[in-house]
Amino acid sequence: MIEKAVSYIGFFDSGVGGITVLRKAQDLMPHEHFLYFADSANVPYGNRSKKEILSCVLESIEQMMRFPLKAIVLACNTATSVAASALREKYDIPIIGMEPAVKPAVLEGDPRKILVLATELTLKEKKYKDLVKELNAEDKVDALPMQDLVMYAEEYDFESSELTKYVDKSFASVDWQDYKSVVLGCTHFLYFKSIFKKFIPSHIHYIDGHEGTLNHLSNQINKNAFGTKPKLMCMLSGLEVSSEVIQPYLNYLDRKTSMFVSTSN
Ligand code: DGL
Repeated sequence: MIEKAVSYIGFFDSGVGGITVLRKAQDLMPHEHFLYFADSANVPYGNRSKKEILSCVLESIEQMMRFPLKAIVLACNTATSVAASALREKYDIPIIGMEPAVKPAVLEGDPRKILVLATELTLKEKKYKDLVKELNAEDKVDALPMQDLVMYAEEYDFESSELTKYVDKSFASVDWQDYKSVVLGCTHFLYFKSIFKKFIPSHIHYIDGHEGTLNHLSNQINKNAFGTKPKLMCMLSGLEVSSEVIQPYLNYLDRKTSMFVSTSN
C-alpha cells in the first residue's frame, strides 16, 4: 500500500519503456520514492489515434493522482506529444514531458546527419516537426519509425531471430556513412542498444533525453532528505501490483549499463 505521508514522483508510460527512465532516476535521485505506472492494457500507443491516446493518458493520470505525487514524468515521447499540454492545464504539480533529443544531437555540430528512431505517432506529430524546424535542421535530420520494437520490449524479447530480422529490414536502406548519430526517441528503444550495435557501425553516437529530462525534474521538486529509504510502487493500468513485476526489466538494464548513453557513446 502507498503511504499517504510520503510523496512520490510518478513515472508514466504506455508500458515498460518508462522503466529505462525510472532506472536512471534511481541512480540520480537515490532518496526519492517512485510510483511507476504502465498502461499495459492499452500498449502500444504509437499506432493509435491521437484521440485514443489522449483518453488513455487522461484516464491513467487520474488513477495516478489518487496517490500523493509531487511531480509526474511522462516517460513516453508519444504521450508527451499528445497529452502534455492538457495535463499541465488540468493539474497543479509539475508534468515533465519527453521529446526526442534532437537538440543535443544538432548541437554536436557534426556535418553528418542525424537519424531519429521513434514511434509512428511521435514522428507524425506537429510537435516533432516544429522541433526540427525550430532548430533549422530539416536537411540534417531523418526519421525512421520502428513501432514494432515497442511490443518486442513488452514481450521481453531483446534478441530473437524475428526481432533481428525486423531490425535488419528497418535499417536496410540506411547508409550509415551519411550519419553521425542516432536519437533514441522512444523510451522503449533503449533496451535494444545491444542489437542495434550489431547493425550500426561504431562511429555512430546514441543520444537519448533521459538525463536532460531528469535534470529538469530535479529543478522542479523539493528533494527528499538525505538518508530517506526509497520506496517503489507499481501500477498496471490502474491496478496496484508488486514492484517485482518490473524487476526483470530493471535487472536487464543493470546488466547492460551501457544502455545509458545520454549524449554520446
Ligand atoms: N514508450 C513510448 C515512447 O516513448 C511509446 C511506445 C508505444 O506505446 O508505442 O514513445
